Amino acid sequence: MLLKLRFVLLCSLPLLLRPQPVMSSLVMSRAEDFIDWWQHTVFYQIYPRSFMDSNGDGIGDLKGITLKLPYLAETGIKATWLSPIFASPMVDFGYDISDYRSIQPEYGTMADFEELVATAYGLGIKIILDFVPNHTSDQHEWFKKSAQNDPVYRDFYVWADAILDGDNGPHPPNNWQSVFYGSAWTWHPERKQYYLHQFTKEQPDLNFRNPEVVKAMDEVLTYWLDKGVAGFRIDAVNHLFENVNLDNEPVSGKTEDPLSYSYTEHIYTKDLPEVLEMVQHWRRLLDEYSATHTNGPTRIMMTEAYAPLQKLMDYYEDESGVHGSHLPFNFHFITDVGATSDARDFVYNVEKWLIYMPRGHAANWVMGNHDNPRVASRFGPASVDAMNMLLLTLPGVAVTYNGEELGMLDYREISWEDTVDPPARNAGEENYKDVSRDPERTPFQWNNETNAGFSSAEHTWLPVHPNYLELNLAKQQEATKSHYKVYKALVELRKSVVLRRGRFTIEPLSRAVFAFKRTLKEYNTLITIINVSAEPQLVDLSEFVDRPQKLVVEVAGADSSYEPGTSFLATNDSLKLPPRSGIVLAAHQQFMGEQRRALVKQLIKSANVVLVGLLMYKLWRHKWTKVNFNQHHLMY
Ligand code: GLC
Repeated sequence: MLLKLRFVLLCSLPLLLRPQPVMSSLVMSRAEDFIDWWQHTVFYQIYPRSFMDSNGDGIGDLKGITLKLPYLAETGIKATWLSPIFASPMVDFGYDISDYRSIQPEYGTMADFEELVATAYGLGIKIILDFVPNHTSDQHEWFKKSAQNDPVYRDFYVWADAILDGDNGPHPPNNWQSVFYGSAWTWHPERKQYYLHQFTKEQPDLNFRNPEVVKAMDEVLTYWLDKGVAGFRIDAVNHLFENVNLDNEPVSGKTEDPLSYSYTEHIYTKDLPEVLEMVQHWRRLLDEYSATHTNGPTRIMMTEAYAPLQKLMDYYEDESGVHGSHLPFNFHFITDVGATSDARDFVYNVEKWLIYMPRGHAANWVMGNHDNPRVASRFGPASVDAMNMLLLTLPGVAVTYNGEELGMLDYREISWEDTVDPPARNAGEENYKDVSRDPERTPFQWNNETNAGFSSAEHTWLPVHPNYLELNLAKQQEATKSHYKVYKALVELRKSVVLRRGRFTIEPLSRAVFAFKRTLKEYNTLITIINVSAEPQLVDLSEFVDRPQKLVVEVAGADSSYEPGTSFLATNDSLKLPPRSGIVLAAHQQFMGEQRRALVKQLIKSANVVLVGLLMYKLWRHKWTKVNFNQHHLMY
């Protein structure tokens, strides 16, 4: 009988343990998913001047953005940050604000902004605004009044007396330079003092040591929060404070030119400890606002600081556990790797952020912005899909600059006459191409019509890249395979619980190839493999799994010969990766379904009961036989 039972159990086990169709790890979320909206979203940066022109004046505007919001929604974008849209003389294209509470007329009206916000929210897209606290425009009322020594505004900016040097005339108070070249000080004839400007002379630095300035800027933040924005990208935050003694900065030895920004080490004008206190102050403001306005999402800030890694980590949370920026921008894919970097450089670049980041925070990866050459220009056009795979399958937040989903290229051939970027104009006709930011700011390439579908004007504020006839969204939407299609597939894949919450490990497989895994118990592991070299590479798939397993292509590059859905056996096959390409694979595992697991447990329990019963029965019989035998024996 016992044997029989064992036999039945053994026969039924394979049936019970038979692999179930795997619950796809993709496109599903769990009720207990504890991730807040900003911890895993893609922030899509719109440069409003170049996105879409609705009124034919050659300049992008708010109505243009509203018109194109469905495009963002269709791409799967849930949050967008807009470069400045506020009143401005446009010396630095909106980063010189003359009124923090009004909209630049060429971009539209406040009603247009309200419509934009309402439409965005209707489509499930959150709006983040650019907040520029370090400086205003010299046309701002505050500066005009400050220059007139108005008692309320006198100390709103950083003023200093000239150093008098006999017949040589007055000199600036010290050797500080502007980021955009030249002295950081400009003489103001009315006030008869120098004022500080870390960027152009039309962008005077506010004095954050004055509590009235702090208060005025808090009010600006609350004003826009009340209009329904979900937070801010905070501009040039590490420039907020300077040393009060106005000490000279030490000479760096990097250049002979005393007017170049790299002439000194910026120990008195950048990354001062007071910056962190201000960031923490704004965090408290945002947290309090979120707590008292529960009808909206968590209001957040993202901070722009090109600063040492340890300093950026303090923005997340300082030594004593005080929280600051939700997302201190991680620019390392822009500043620390490029077309000649190898796989180890990429791995190191990713690991260093994750190693230093305090626990419980969201990593973030910025692949491009309006201040730096585009991805296709930095890494080469062939790398576009691979870089987007990297960006969108890493843990945490991804930041995409508009046009990177198409692989738009910088237009480096803009003439000197058409050049408008202030640092480029400062560099002069000989050198402007080396520093100009105009090439990455050219109009968005929507289609192959006039001005790439950006504007009906005869003249656009920056020329359209002539490659728009071939490289444009409409063409990429129609094509079976394109950069845009790859980007969209990756954004879709990001919905998976594995990409939201999966553990992360990364390693270089060689100098050419690196790979990383996202793993979560009971879900298919996702593996991203990237060949950063200029040569094709053969990758041994058994590197990735301990048991024979099926690997299925989730996303392949537009030029790849692999189709999504193609499968390999990890133990037998190798993968051919073309130069500068990537692939995302899912390692299909065999899981037992919940119901089946419960049934097996029940059966094992029942079998145990039967076995114990049988055992007892046997024991009892054995004893009975023994007694009988003994009795029998005794009879003799
Ligand atoms: C930030 C902006 C840049 C601007 C500068 C001065 O770095 O991103 O575009 O020129 O600040 O406001």
